[in-house]
Amino acid sequence: MDLHDFEDVAQNYDRYLEAMYREHDNYENFREFYLSLAQEYGARGVIDIACGTGAVLLYLAANGIEAEGTDLSEAMCRQAREKAAQMGLSPHVFAANMTDFRRDRRYSLAIIARSGFMHLLTPELQKKALLNIRDHLADDGVLTLNTFAPDPRLQASQMNTGVDDYTFRLEYVNRDGQRERIYNAITYDPVTQIMSGNWKFETYDEAGNKVGQRIRPLAMRQTYKQELLYLAELCGFEVVAVYGDYHKTTSETGHYVWVLKKSNGIDRSHLSWKGESI
Ligand SMILES: C[S@@+](CC[C@H](N)C(=O)[O-])C[C@H]1O[C@@H](n2cnc3c(N)ncnc32)[C@H](O)[C@@H]1O
Repeated sequence: MDLHDFEDVAQNYDRYLEAMYREHDNYENFREFYLSLAQEYGARGVIDIACGTGAVLLYLAANGIEAEGTDLSEAMCRQAREKAAQMGLSPHVFAANMTDFRRDRRYSLAIIARSGFMHLLTPELQKKALLNIRDHLADDGVLTLNTFAPDPRLQASQMNTGVDDYTFRLEYVNRDGQRERIYNAITYDPVTQIMSGNWKFETYDEAGNKVGQRIRPLAMRQTYKQELLYLAELCGFEVVAVYGDYHKTTSETGHYVWVLKKSNGIDRSHLSWKGESI
């Protein structure tokens, strides 16, 4: 069970994210970026995978794009549906794992926005998801996702972090109107490239007394640029573009925003991984 599966996290997600990215936002311009991709490639249907509370899905729908959303967390799907209803929109949103969801249709654009792909914790799961998504794309369909490569300075410090070494991240007001302070303690394993740890939410009353605390786990995998290049090729995608951010920066930032196109086909019959054909 991960952070996003918890009802309290889903209900407050938009609120604390807004506070988190107020000063520094790695994802600046993401909505506009995906809308322009949807206008270019999405004419035969768009799927927003790991859609969360619908930040991209609802922006696309509000701009006249026919889009569906899916997320592993039913709690996040519920939030997306509620927000859609408030906006007078009704996109189809369903709970599913990107590694094995099944739909009897194909899309011309699949979006995995704001690091959803990094929740796949092994190369095997990444491969499974890419192959499954490929099966749901039209012949010339496009997949966009983003990855962060390990940052040696950050990860070196996280290698020395204990499970209780919390760092203050932000303060925000939750949906019940209470002040909450968020801390996290993240450790990094250089072998698996997984950052894992806990997020601590402390709730305060009006007098400033701490009245509650919730601890929620989160794990994400960093992926080197070269890994993703190989993985994309292995799973039948060619690279259309790779940017350093959602403003389409072309310099190396350690953040990679990928635009991949389903290639004409690969012969996977001779490929296997841990005894299983892929
Ligand atoms: C960082 S959030 C991003 C949400 C959304 N794309 C956005 O931009 O706000 C990552 C989302 O990925 C979802 N997720 C994690 N693993 C998943 C999986 N295997 N399949 C589908 N969704 C997954 C989580 O439930 C969470 O909502």
